Amino acid sequence: MSDSPSGSPELTRRPEWTALEDHRTDTLPQPDLRELFAADPGRAERYVVRVGDLRIDYSKHLVTDETLALLQELAAATDVFGLRDAMFRGERINVTEDRAVLHTALRAPRDAVIEVDGENVVPGVHAVLDKMAGFADRVRSGEWTGHTGKRIRNVVNIGIGGSDLGPAMAYEALRPFTARDLTFRFVSNVDGSDLHEAVRDLDPAETLFIVASKTFTTIETITNATSARSWLLQGLGGDEKAVAKHFVALSTNSEKVAGFGIDVDNMFEFWDWVGGRYSYDSAIGLSLMIAIGPDRFREMLDGFRIVDEHFRNAPAEANAPLLMGLLGIWYGNFLDAQSHAVLPYSHYLSKFTAYLQQLDMESNGKSVDREGRPVQWQTGPVVWGTPGTNGQHAYYQLIHQGTKLIPADLIGFARPVAELGDELKAQHDLLMANLFAQGQALAFGKTAEEVRAEGVPEEQVPHRTFRGNHPTTTILATELTPSVLGQLVALYEHKVFVQGAVWNIDSFDQWGVELGKVLAKRVEPALTEGADVPGLDPSTAALVAAYRTLREV
Ligand code: F6P
Repeated sequence: MSDSPSGSPELTRRPEWTALEDHRTDTLPQPDLRELFAADPGRAERYVVRVGDLRIDYSKHLVTDETLALLQELAAATDVFGLRDAMFRGERINVTEDRAVLHTALRAPRDAVIEVDGENVVPGVHAVLDKMAGFADRVRSGEWTGHTGKRIRNVVNIGIGGSDLGPAMAYEALRPFTARDLTFRFVSNVDGSDLHEAVRDLDPAETLFIVASKTFTTIETITNATSARSWLLQGLGGDEKAVAKHFVALSTNSEKVAGFGIDVDNMFEFWDWVGGRYSYDSAIGLSLMIAIGPDRFREMLDGFRIVDEHFRNAPAEANAPLLMGLLGIWYGNFLDAQSHAVLPYSHYLSKFTAYLQQLDMESNGKSVDREGRPVQWQTGPVVWGTPGTNGQHAYYQLIHQGTKLIPADLIGFARPVAELGDELKAQHDLLMANLFAQGQALAFGKTAEEVRAEGVPEEQVPHRTFRGNHPTTTILATELTPSVLGQLVALYEHKVFVQGAVWNIDSFDQWGVELGKVLAKRVEPALTEGADVPGLDPSTAALVAAYRTLREV
């Protein structure tokens, strides 16, 4: 509830906030990375934090020891660790939905005790993991057959948002660990072409559909699942009994699953304390578990847990998610950065940034605080990016020489995947040379003097000068294993948490996506039947009319 029309003043009035503003003013136009390194070469080793297999280098940031200390003071003043502990304890920190936020329980060890409303949720988590493992093993071994007795060879996950992006990203990331004799597809878009392309070359008798939906009410998913069922039944002679062998559900809503016609024995459960965008290590990861096998899936959960424990126990100055979150706050709130690029130097991480977009932007795309008052500070950044080398030949120009400050994460691995042949393995050094070269060029640029020294004509000098001073974090690991993927995802989950805690927003609801969903349902009859939609604004009414006319042409 808003008690002040001008919004929530607390954060920006805190002395720790104004101290950072003063520090920013003192160091303007901006701390210069060349000068920072000249004055303190030791920062290359000092500004590194290690967690699990990750080596996180934040030396190329526009910060000094003083900046970091002031940011830590802000974190302490906003009680980030207090909220963290409340999350791990299972308190209802998702205030607008009155829910606990316990994705960390999904990777808790069997003997852990984590209570929600007095009930230990850990045995339930492991019971579902065991059920998933049994099912995954049966599909992988060929013991689970389709309606006609044929072996399942194709797995199609139907879901959207958190019920798609996580498993699709992780499947791609861990491809070298997947059962190569099975085909995996991920259908999310309500555009019928998505399903069409996913199934057009598949044999229904060999195809398993996994319908992934926390609520089991999401229109895109239910529409696609209904069409998939028709496709299956058409292909298998219309026997409704086939559905039981070819459809399983991942959901919190057993009633809706049964209503759809999926046997609840074939449902893998999760719980309302798992947010959609935090859910791929729950039952939502079933397609991934079938792909990589239960043991690899558990290795991934172990990776998540390494970072959970680190976030929970590491001191503030060596706490990786805290540091990454605070650096984002420095740029977004004090240096006016609007976006954050995540640039993996790994083809297998090609969907990683798209996954992070939901994680970060659905979590922290908020403009009221936890009490409902408009915030008077910037919240979540626009998160974007694609694999680095491809980006270098597309949008890196803007990062290097454009007018915007764009902090970026560069992610790379020391080893290529084992299954590459020698010639392809040899390309890995070139890939990583690009990562290191970009980090260097972004940070240190090229001065006009350096350009002149190369004999460049004077009129070209400004065009060929690179200001540099573009901050990057470099995250390195030995190789992209299931555990390392879990570590990376948990690192970003907790980074997002830290930022939401400082901004005093609810990072766990997503009311902003509801309006579009409601309006789509209301507008649809105008398209299908030409029905009058009360309250349709004139611009949208004209678009609907044009659509109907164009459709008839
Ligand atoms: O986009 C909104 C959202 O609610 C996401 O948070 C969620 O991941 C997605 O829709 C899918 O929801 P469900 O799993 O309930 O189908």
